[in-house]
Amino acid sequence: GAPFFHYDGAQLMAESVSVSELAARFGTPLYVYSRAALKAAWESYAQPLTNRNALVCFGMKANSNLAVLQQFAQWGSGFDIVSGGELARALKAGARPDTIVFSGVGKQDWEIEAALQAGVKCFNVESTDELERISLIASQLGCTAPVSLRVNPDVDAKTHPYISTGLKDNKFGIAIEIAAEVYQRAAVLPGIRIVGVDCHIGSQITQIEPYLDALERLLNLLDTLAGLGIRLEHLDIGGGLGIRYQDETPIAPALLLDAVFAMLESRGYDYLQLVLEPGRSLVGNAGILVTRVQYLKHHESKNFAIVDAAMNDLLRPTLYDAWHGVLPVLCPTDASHTAQSRVYDIVGPICESGDWLARDRQLRLQQNDLLAIESAGAYGFVMSGQYNTRPRCAEVMVDGDQTYLIRPRETVEQLFASEQMLPV
Ligand code: LLP
Repeated sequence: GAPFFHYDGAQLMAESVSVSELAARFGTPLYVYSRAALKAAWESYAQPLTNRNALVCFGMKANSNLAVLQQFAQWGSGFDIVSGGELARALKAGARPDTIVFSGVGKQDWEIEAALQAGVKCFNVESTDELERISLIASQLGCTAPVSLRVNPDVDAKTHPYISTGLKDNKFGIAIEIAAEVYQRAAVLPGIRIVGVDCHIGSQITQIEPYLDALERLLNLLDTLAGLGIRLEHLDIGGGLGIRYQDETPIAPALLLDAVFAMLESRGYDYLQLVLEPGRSLVGNAGILVTRVQYLKHHESKNFAIVDAAMNDLLRPTLYDAWHGVLPVLCPTDASHTAQSRVYDIVGPICESGDWLARDRQLRLQQNDLLAIESAGAYGFVMSGQYNTRPRCAEVMVDGDQTYLIRPRETVEQLFASEQMLPV
């Protein structure tokens, strides 16, 4: 890919900015994003969609920093949200309400109300109960809720079971066998306007076939609906395109989109607006997590590098057994570095054996070295927590030779500022 994070001589750069200078200025652990990388990922969708009736709704759960959302909103992106919190963030960042789709299996009353009041593009409805609830609330508010049913097409996205969502035994969506019935119910409910159909089959998908299988099943459903006099305005194929972490071969969005448009045309559904909900593929490789080596431990059968980032900062390795690349920020030279090359586990300071970021990596390390954990732009900071009373990281955005602090490091005092002790 384009060298947004690259070596200039022996030192790692984020665009034109030295990563070690960022670490010195903002401290570690530190999330660093490249605006140019975000733009390039955005263009990989926008280019093939030129002159198409389509809307990209960034799956903002992948990275919801306001600065990131603001860029996507400026480039014309819509947003796929899954909570009232994400709605508030998207609106704050300048999203147009009529480009927001609201997904999620557990929408609460206040979230439904807020979305109706904001005027979102649609609710991706995941159950009959939810449909009835939305109808009731919309009726009470005297408005009409645009709805799309999230159908579970029962296809295997061939990805990690934790992030596979389109199989029958999954909590997501409405089983495709009963979808037509639910549409008929929606058609007669007050306060409901049917606008679309939606599916999302999983994440980190590296094959086209599961998408086309799902699309075919959706189009068969649309045939049935047409027979029932139910006509839709849009079709949402969800997100899920994978990125390269290690040696995966990701699908270029253009390739998937060509195949999707070809199928829509051949089936006579090219009048529908195509909606997409990519998350990871828009942000994943636009971010790194920079961390500093605190201590080295050389055991008989294992070497550990204890760094200042931990599972609370990047949960993916321990949660999914996910592989992230690890790069030295300053490549060791014989002059700077006397350390020998060893196989290390990169671990954090948290009191859990599961607190690791990478395993079995061949590195030359000494204390205070900086490391960059790659592909940390998606499901990185957003999944971070404060376990062990660890303040969450700072986030910075690099743009050419400029750097913007887009979230300061939390302070220890902030972590318990709102807690109350009992009266003495
Ligand atoms: N739309 C819906 C309804 C979703 O549930 C998701 C992600 C997306 C879109 C965006 O999918 P993406 O393009 O990012 O694959 N935390 C996990 C990934 C969880 C994905 C959940 N749903 C990870 O770190 O791998």
